[in-house]
Amino acid sequence: MLQRIVKPLAIAVLLLLSQLTYATEGMWLPQLLSGLNEKEMKGMGMKINASDIYNINKGSLKDAIVSFGGFCTAEVISSQGLILTNHHCGYESIQKHSSLQNNFLQNGFWAKTASEELSNPGLFVTFIVRIDDVTKAALQDVKPGMSERDRQSAIDKRLNEIRQNARKESWQETMVKPFYEGNQYFLFVTETFNDVRLVGTPPSSIGKFGSDTDNWVWPRHTGDFSMFRIYAGKDGRPAPYSQDNVPLSPKYFLPISLKGVKQNDFTMVLGFPGRTNEYLPSEAVKLTVEALDPAKVGMRDAALEVIDGYMRKDEQIKIQYAAKYASTANAWKKWKGEMLGVKQTRGIEKRERYEATYRELLDANAEQKVKYSGVLDSLNEMYRRIRPYAQTRDYYSELVKNVELFTAGDRLISFLGEVRDKGEGQYEALRQQFLESMQSFYKNYNAQVDHDVAVKLLDIYAKGVPKQYAGTEYAQICGESNNDSRALADKIYNGSGLTSLEKLKAFVQQPYNAVVAQMWKDPGTRLIMAMRKGFVDNVSKPVSDLQNSINNLQRTYMQAQMDVMATKKRFYPDANSTLRVTYGKADGYSPRDAIHYDFYTYLDGVMEKYIPGDYEFDVPAKLIELHKNKDYGRYGVNGRMPVCFIASNHTTGGNSGSPALDAYGHLIGLNFDRTWEGTMSDINYDPSICRNIMVDIRYVLFIVDKYAGCTRLIDEMKLVK
Ligand code: ARG
Ligand code: GLU
Repeated sequence: MLQRIVKPLAIAVLLLLSQLTYATEGMWLPQLLSGLNEKEMKGMGMKINASDIYNINKGSLKDAIVSFGGFCTAEVISSQGLILTNHHCGYESIQKHSSLQNNFLQNGFWAKTASEELSNPGLFVTFIVRIDDVTKAALQDVKPGMSERDRQSAIDKRLNEIRQNARKESWQETMVKPFYEGNQYFLFVTETFNDVRLVGTPPSSIGKFGSDTDNWVWPRHTGDFSMFRIYAGKDGRPAPYSQDNVPLSPKYFLPISLKGVKQNDFTMVLGFPGRTNEYLPSEAVKLTVEALDPAKVGMRDAALEVIDGYMRKDEQIKIQYAAKYASTANAWKKWKGEMLGVKQTRGIEKRERYEATYRELLDANAEQKVKYSGVLDSLNEMYRRIRPYAQTRDYYSELVKNVELFTAGDRLISFLGEVRDKGEGQYEALRQQFLESMQSFYKNYNAQVDHDVAVKLLDIYAKGVPKQYAGTEYAQICGESNNDSRALADKIYNGSGLTSLEKLKAFVQQPYNAVVAQMWKDPGTRLIMAMRKGFVDNVSKPVSDLQNSINNLQRTYMQAQMDVMATKKRFYPDANSTLRVTYGKADGYSPRDAIHYDFYTYLDGVMEKYIPGDYEFDVPAKLIELHKNKDYGRYGVNGRMPVCFIASNHTTGGNSGSPALDAYGHLIGLNFDRTWEGTMSDINYDPSICRNIMVDIRYVLFIVDKYAGCTRLIDEMKLVK
């Protein structure tokens, strides 16, 4: 009796659930949204059409989105070319304009008039004018059974033609990129502006609040934004920096909503995500979280611990190492989250189940079976084979990256290689260039810190890398120090010419041939040469051979998945730094038993984290004052000031600075991070715990208006109430 009731009930509940849970996974191509995506987006609450997002006949959302410097995203938010991006995206520009007297990182900066806006040589923004599918033309010379290299050169020849023949204006550029592992190709016509000026930034105590401790973590309280302006020639076209340039009059700019976000509201993010790997076979996921991530994390655990110890007791070292520490820690923390997230969501089992379904379906389809039989097994086998080599490669590259003396040695080797290639006649000029480039390196170098890092990392390297890969010269050198990393490091840091700029200058003061001969004598460069030789002789060739097979198989497996699993899954191409649309819902999540995170944070939370004078959690006096008086203007709600929120949009690195839009395509937030448990979304997206983190646009406006008093910027925006 009971059963008879329970069953229909369970089915009804399941049905309801399936209507409530939407597929928020996916980074979709903006020109291909009409159809399934549009239907789903509307089902989730979107009120505009796919043609309002991407349209080549009228201004649409995509015309307000730019790639910022090639590494972040920004969006146009006024008719006068004002753009919004993250504080951490503008960081380098802000730092370059900062001095001890005018420390914009410390104090923030607000251009009171257009003439105070600051130019940034080298910085550019790129608009997407048009995207065309050119797959057929790109692949027309590809024949079955071609080697990877022949295939690539056949394609490259066609891509050149495609780019040259593309319809475009004289000031526009073209680019063709592979999608779906090289099964499809798209042409991008773009417009790049090189006069991009700094307009405003909050102090780091707002824009970088919480710093490394809070990085990748929710709940978050960071006002991670800065503002720039695009300038164009008088004709509105791209032009190099000139005082006579005028603010860009954009094809489209984003209206800004003051309405805020409610739980389960539709949200959408447009931007330039960098790299994801969502279609790997199970062995590749294992390789990542069982071999590569742990190797890299282990190396960085040790390096960061040493550097942190010094930074905490020495102000000078803190200044020298703060930026390096932040960038090392950023990827380190992401990989840790990735391992954890895959484990917690049983990502490998999930992938194996997916493969079982794939095999079943493939077996049931005679035609596909002929075409794809064995592909998945071979691919998994290749990933098993590449494992020890790939792990060694990562140990090696982490060692060279984190032991700065080895980084310097690596650069020295490249410089000498360049001389060898270009001829000794170039030696003098190239030497000057090299020494100049090393100046900033040594400005932030401390040999004592580096020595201690080397002791730890040489030890990890010796234990982690199999003897046959490390090479005989390396073994010889280690043996001379009784395989004791400290003894080896002592020898190197006492005797090497790489420990200071002065010594390096003396090192390369000799004639070219003498320097080359010295490379195997100096204890520092000798070890680097030995490790490098071991790597080249024993690792890089097998890695690149295996990688060639993997690329080939991965491309076939991608196509196979799209054919075989077509009824089970919708396929979007992996991120490749091209414009994408992702959508989801504002919502919290439960990462572990008994823990649930809300989806909003408030200024009260900033005050809870406040540690006076701390370099991560200090709060500016003016902000404390505004909070005390609840002086939030039109930006607060019910006496509280919203700061950040999360949603289930599928994002990755490069999406920093991307706009979060509501159902009407109005700006509601600014993407800047992901939650820790969800960083595995790059290889294993899971809607239950993957969330992107955004600053509420009202917090941005509040800081510009009430904190900085820069009302001229608010006046040029289009606010929707
Ligand atoms: N985790 C974010 C990203 O991957 C923010 C990094 C900048 N912030 C920091 N505290 N390091 O880029
Ligand atoms: N902070 C990242 C960036 O700079 C975005 C966060 C992510 O990786 O999702 O692009």
